[in-house]
Amino acid sequence: MKVKEPVITIDGASGTGKGVVSQLLAKQLGWKLLDSGALYRVLALAAQKHGVALENEPALKVLAEFLDVQFIATEMGRPPKILLEGQDVTDTIRTEKMGNAASKVGALPEVRTALLSRQRAFREAPGLVTDGRDMGTVVFPDAELKIFLTASPEERANRRHNQLKEKGINVNLGDLILELKERDQRDRERAVAPLKPAEDAICIDTDKLTIDQVVERIMSEVRKIFPSLHTVKE
Ligand code: C5P
Repeated sequence: MKVKEPVITIDGASGTGKGVVSQLLAKQLGWKLLDSGALYRVLALAAQKHGVALENEPALKVLAEFLDVQFIATEMGRPPKILLEGQDVTDTIRTEKMGNAASKVGALPEVRTALLSRQRAFREAPGLVTDGRDMGTVVFPDAELKIFLTASPEERANRRHNQLKEKGINVNLGDLILELKERDQRDRERAVAPLKPAEDAICIDTDKLTIDQVVERIMSEVRKIFPSLHTVKE
């Protein structure tokens, strides 16, 4: 029987810090990284590019199956460059508009099924850290360690606001809170793979923790599961 590579899943709503926590964790462990939200964002962008409506499930399913997306590794622990049909879309997919569009296509069951094997293909030696909404519940239910991050809506909106500002994207904080709530509601209430912790997930409230503290908290769980694990030095 083929031995499966170990997986750590980091799920949670947007603004809980799961993206940066996953990057730092993958870097410390020297493991692969999958930002599953990026796949949904790229699919939403592809739909826009090809004039496919965000409600057209059969067409989106086909688009998802044939999606020409590449994740090009840059520096270890840094987000990869993302190409859609050969074109660099790394920054284009990060707007709130694309986040919202991604959550619309992500609510369609056939789209989610079409993206399953693509996500599972990221499971490679020596291991995978992956972040999303349903990594622990649906995509990698047999993951060795499942983490679910939470934070208050205000804290999450503030973090998103700062992240976007750093990228030179200016948005109104009030609008951001409203958009976050709308996206959250859709992600939590959808019929398939809703945002929720797996039964065996460890929940961490990140409101009063720094990113490094969250990573250290997760690393303490990692060390319990893999006592002889070697981490990558800076
Ligand atoms: O994590 P990120 O904000 O990039 O995700 C964008 C949207 O993609 C989410 O709001 C969610 O609706 C969808 N998504 C999903 N399942 C995942 C990751 C993201 O449905 N595993």
